[in-house]
Amino acid sequence: MGGGSNGVEVQMANEKPTNGTKSPANASTVTTTTNGANKAIIKENLNGKIVIPSASCKIPSQFEANGEIIDPHCDPKNPQKISFHDITSAAFLIKDGIERTPCPRSTTSDSYGMDLYLKKDFLQYTGSFKERGARYALLSLSDEQKKIGVISASLGNHAQALSYHGWKLNIPVTVVMPKAAPIMKIQKCRNYKANVIVEGKDMGEAKALAMKMAKEQKMLYINGYDHPHIMAGQGTIGLEILEQVPNPDAVIIPVGGGGLIAGIATAIKALSPKTKIIGVESAKCPSFSNAMENNGPIHTPIKNTLADGLAVPKVGYNAFVTALPLIDKMVVVKEEWIALAILRLVEEEKCVVEGAGASGLAAILAGQLPELKGKKVVVLLCGGNIDTTVFGRCLERGLAAEGRLVKFNVEVSDRPGGIHELCEILSELGVSIKDIMHERAWLKDIYTVEVKVVCETRDWAHSTELKEELKRHYSKVQFSEEPLAIHEQMINQGKK
Ligand SMILES: Cc1ncc(COP(=O)(O)O)c(C=O)c1O
Repeated sequence: MGGGSNGVEVQMANEKPTNGTKSPANASTVTTTTNGANKAIIKENLNGKIVIPSASCKIPSQFEANGEIIDPHCDPKNPQKISFHDITSAAFLIKDGIERTPCPRSTTSDSYGMDLYLKKDFLQYTGSFKERGARYALLSLSDEQKKIGVISASLGNHAQALSYHGWKLNIPVTVVMPKAAPIMKIQKCRNYKANVIVEGKDMGEAKALAMKMAKEQKMLYINGYDHPHIMAGQGTIGLEILEQVPNPDAVIIPVGGGGLIAGIATAIKALSPKTKIIGVESAKCPSFSNAMENNGPIHTPIKNTLADGLAVPKVGYNAFVTALPLIDKMVVVKEEWIALAILRLVEEEKCVVEGAGASGLAAILAGQLPELKGKKVVVLLCGGNIDTTVFGRCLERGLAAEGRLVKFNVEVSDRPGGIHELCEILSELGVSIKDIMHERAWLKDIYTVEVKVVCETRDWAHSTELKEELKRHYSKVQFSEEPLAIHEQMINQGKK
């Protein structure tokens, strides 16, 4: 295995920093925690959180099982690291059944102030990188196991990947999908001829059922992020990146259960030890950073997130011990940046990417990686399976976050021409009305009418111009709030 850059034994500053000062709203809180010989720097600011691990590393050789059903391939008492050799074996085996996805320079690279490349693994047939691990795990089965088949629990991308490659390789696949799984993804697995069982209110219940069935029917349970073959398969992305973009300064990788970053980091650190490995999580499910704090996987309550592919409550034991010594920085981003990243990828790069897949770019947009200015950086766009309705909402949230969709209530005169005057102001400014309604029944002043408007502007500066103009004309005007983090950053950039 390649040499790790850093070791980690951190105590993270969550709500209460152990040593540090709270500064004004737009500044960051920096905390250095000490745990034995190890130190970690944790920075919290409006955009999220950054954890820079320590230079020395003491990873436990085993973890507590806490009453969970043990998958023999992901055993807390015996966590397995994968090696560089595992990844080259995977690359050799899967090469005929997996797309070698492009990694072009971003068309807007210069606007980010870096030499930015996008590894487009959402272009795999089923829309995500998960096919790499799934195919390798299936091809590595014994002949007998290939006849009996495999089982897994998954909300979506892993289930689709396993179902599709099982179908192509003629290996029976059963997937247990929780009731919350998107209907489209359930249907896709059925189209790929898998035995699909929709059961359990969440992943925990679905997994318990899948493990029980695995035991009863002698099927192999394939954990979607922690089975060693899954991690090795995902690692083949790292080999491709280094062929396509030699000696990158950094690779940015979304983190859910940790298998993806474990595989890619193993490949990259072996061949290019100076390349920084940067993980990204959503603030709604920071299970890897919590595992870093705990120095071992720990259950993290997760909330609804745009990055549903990252919503894994507990990272994998194998993934944790493999990835931890190889990670240079972990960034936890807030949701508004993920929405904005989805929007930017559609508008600028013509890529439809799901929240999890866009979170790498979100970390850059959030300004959490200033050290990468002027550097050669690869961002992994690892999934494109986004519900059409969720996609629509993400675009609107992204527009609102960027100040391009503005909502306001204004009281105008109820005399003839009052609303006309408002429309004229908007029209002169070049602002486009998306929605408009008015009401008069609840107003104190019977000669006024309240008009509610949602409108589109060119950019942040344009919406600022609109707000100033409205305030000049009307005494009662109220704007809906912008997400705080983005608002602060715009001020700092002098755009407001
Ligand atoms: C699109 C996407 N990106 C990233 C991840 C995270 O991968 P891992 O769970 O191996 O960390 C997932 C996991 O399902 C995913 O679907």
